[in-house]
Amino acid sequence: MTTRDDMDIVRSRLASWEEAARSGEGPVLVQPPMSRLAEDLDICELISAGGLAGKRLDVFLETYLAASHRIPHPHGMGHQVACPHPSAILGGYVDVFTNNPMAIYEMGPAAATVEYAIINWMLEKVGWNPRPWPDRAAGEGVQREECGGGVLTHGGSLAQLTALAAARAHADPEAWERGASPDLVVVSPPDAHYSVSRALGILGIGQKALVPAPCDECGRILPRELDRLLKDLKGQGRRIMAVTANAGCTAAGLYDDFPAVADICERHQVWLHVDGAHGASALLSSRLRPLLDGVERADSLIWDAHKMMRTPGLCAAVLFRDGRHLDGAFQQQASYLFHEKEQAGFDAIAHTVECTKAGLGVKFFFGLAAEGEGGLARYVEGCYALGAEVAQLIAARPEYELAVEPQANIVCFRLKELDDEAHLNLRNRVLADGRYYITTTAFAGRRWLRLALMNPETELRHVEGLLNLLPELAKNDT
Ligand SMILES: Cc1ncc(COP(=O)(O)O)c(C=O)c1O
Repeated sequence: MTTRDDMDIVRSRLASWEEAARSGEGPVLVQPPMSRLAEDLDICELISAGGLAGKRLDVFLETYLAASHRIPHPHGMGHQVACPHPSAILGGYVDVFTNNPMAIYEMGPAAATVEYAIINWMLEKVGWNPRPWPDRAAGEGVQREECGGGVLTHGGSLAQLTALAAARAHADPEAWERGASPDLVVVSPPDAHYSVSRALGILGIGQKALVPAPCDECGRILPRELDRLLKDLKGQGRRIMAVTANAGCTAAGLYDDFPAVADICERHQVWLHVDGAHGASALLSSRLRPLLDGVERADSLIWDAHKMMRTPGLCAAVLFRDGRHLDGAFQQQASYLFHEKEQAGFDAIAHTVECTKAGLGVKFFFGLAAEGEGGLARYVEGCYALGAEVAQLIAARPEYELAVEPQANIVCFRLKELDDEAHLNLRNRVLADGRYYITTTAFAGRRWLRLALMNPETELRHVEGLLNLLPELAKNDT
């Protein structure tokens, strides 16, 4: 039984952890050997005998938090993980506490309503039509073909899979029953996130059906060459299931030229899917919106709230210009769930991989509703502006080379004197040192250090500290 004392223990430990991390004290990350950590946490003993309460809980949490990645630390510039908004954390708590799996309306009416509204808000941000409230739809006389559609999923990879399942149903309606036709292909930039090729494996289309889109040296689609490729593929009798484009590619956060790519997809009547897991959040800002111009002409878009919307994991959206396409993605029969009934709301279950689905929209909504969309827009603008300032700083230092002018808050750079392998070693040194957390990536044929500037507490001076430290760590390596 959880007592008020236990709640106080958790609250107090988390508050001190967050405060200390936010102040920038101590390392961002420590990685003790797993077996030692398991012993220190007394995991096996606790599983067999129980007793995680009171003093034992306090001791456990102290060790647990000391070995946790300190996301609120301003030196955390590693992966694209949100630094959660305090209100979004409370939303997560409300969701976990009420535990209303809401893919069926009756199992979580409030959570389902929040998700329905959030999806409509996102549709409008893209420039697509929201859906009427399901209990009023008939009265309002809105035609389904006029409405967008979408659903929240447990992560961008599932959102990607859902979008491509809908594209498969569109190109090959028999695939659900019979399996995918061998003539299907998907055209995608070579550095598209791996969840695209993984989805093709899962959907039975096969990774061999992935045709690399012609791209410039930075991985951006070359529209004229794309046109030629689509013509050639059609000439070979291939059915083009989709073209995918990036709104913030994983490596460097670059955006494709959507108006030009959309022109070509329209000319060939091919489904355009946009991966905006990272970069769709720029839709909130009128200043940044030009990066996404043309995205409203896509057929589907994914957008992670747990990346740039300050929402704790997981919460991603898959959105469709024409909501009817989502009906084709999954054509499941399950008599205990899918049957005619009178209800006041909407069942998302026909549109999701998940059966039991958390009220993902609640944590997203709490952060959004605390800040308002203008507040979140300012956060995204701030992160993107920091990306540009960091790029300037790097370009001004002779020992560094910038990979490309960033369009978002991801910056790739390298020390001119080091080769690819030395950069991997340097990253290991940074992790062992613990004061900063960064990643590396392959980009334009070389290995780069990579910063994802997600934390509102991170300032230029923090990155400057890293730029001063790296040559020192590199020297110690030789
Ligand atoms: C561009 C892009 N798409 C998709 C994904 C997958 O999203 P998730 O990690 O939410 O599954 C990522 C993850 O970083 C990504 O960067």
